[in-house]
Amino acid sequence: AQQVPDILSPEFAENPYPAYRVMRESAPLIWHDVTQSYIISRYEDVERVFKDKDGEFTTDNYDWQLEPVHGKTILQLSGREHSVRRALVAPAFRGSDLQEKFLPVIERNSRELIDAFRHTGSADLVHDYATRFPVNVIADMLGLDKDDHEQFHGWYTSVIAFLGNLSGDPAVAAAGERTRSEFADYMFPIIRARRENLGDDLLSTLCAAEVDGVRMSDEDIKAFCSLLLAAGGETTDKAIASIFANLLAHPEQLAAVRADRGLIPRAFAETLRYTPPVHMIMRQSATEVTVSGGTIPAGATVTCLIGAANRDENRYADPDRFDIFREDLTATNAFSAAADHLAFALGRHFCVGALLAKAEVEIGVDQLLDAMPDARLADGFDPVEQGVFTRGPQSLPVRFTPPAA
Ligand code: HEM
Repeated sequence: AQQVPDILSPEFAENPYPAYRVMRESAPLIWHDVTQSYIISRYEDVERVFKDKDGEFTTDNYDWQLEPVHGKTILQLSGREHSVRRALVAPAFRGSDLQEKFLPVIERNSRELIDAFRHTGSADLVHDYATRFPVNVIADMLGLDKDDHEQFHGWYTSVIAFLGNLSGDPAVAAAGERTRSEFADYMFPIIRARRENLGDDLLSTLCAAEVDGVRMSDEDIKAFCSLLLAAGGETTDKAIASIFANLLAHPEQLAAVRADRGLIPRAFAETLRYTPPVHMIMRQSATEVTVSGGTIPAGATVTCLIGAANRDENRYADPDRFDIFREDLTATNAFSAAADHLAFALGRHFCVGALLAKAEVEIGVDQLLDAMPDARLADGFDPVEQGVFTRGPQSLPVRFTPPAA
């Protein structure tokens, strides 16, 4: 049998895709000692775990992963408690709230970042745009003071460092837990003030939301806002960086998207398949389960490799090719993502911010293409992807002709 590179090896971090192939082909269920989890990689297996038709999996594992930095979030809830929470928060991320309240916020925040570099003829799309844009959007949607955005960004950096702390560095772990209490000290007075004086922002919507007589406590709202830093920030950050990295690496597809902006949804969907922001998600088995002929005992942690499943040759033709014109790509809306890839997961915990993410990427890419009419990578620069749980380009320096003064 072929040797499977360890998911925590430097070789895997550099390029996980060859290892993913070996796993899908010859080791679709493996025990991983360091993470103490069973790893699965085939599309049909990951899809089955996410859909969880027979109630075989829980998200109890998130208690130890997320609790120290966020507290109890929607991701840790299950059953009726989860569906009520979902009904409390979901309306804020779609329909008229998204269209009327938040699209202008997205447009404004994207434009502000682009205005800072559009006249210079150069930018790093990761540092100057992608890492800032979604976090600024969340802060602005919540209605936080503009002066606090920098601090909010600092908490974002600390939260994602905590979640990505594979080696268990105690300094990073301690900083993450400090962030939890700083964030709480900051948010609680703001939440209390909103309850007294509701406004038009996301925080007010969360304070006012009520389903079947249930409302969210201050702690529930604070934990949800903290989750949004990682769930809505890092993911969209990486999606925007990756869409540009993929298009810049395929100039004919970039030219097509530039000429027809109606292709952006296809470029987004194919980017989420080919280079998903979240590569791994963990679940816990509630009972003994058989997967790809092997047995997972009850109570085990299961690592689902989205990055591997999205390139399964039994699901996609020529899976290692980035092609926005793929025939089986629907890309009609973010909920059709379920038919295109597993990047938003599936089932109960399917990404609640999928439509918001789609709006951010569509608006952001459109504005960036307008501002950089001939964007190309800086001479000799070869983008490097980074990350194992979440993954995306580390830096993306581009050059373009600035508008005439
Ligand atoms: C859930 C991916 C953008 C908020 C998820 C899950 C994935 C995901 C894979 C499922 C996690 C699990 O089942 O364990 C993504 C990607 C995004 C994105 C790839 C960008 C391209 C956003 C945005 C927001 C958001 C913009 C909101 C601001 C959430 C929340 C959940 C979630 C709250 C938990 C839902 C639940 O437990 O019911 N996302 N996400 N995400 N996402 Fe996203």
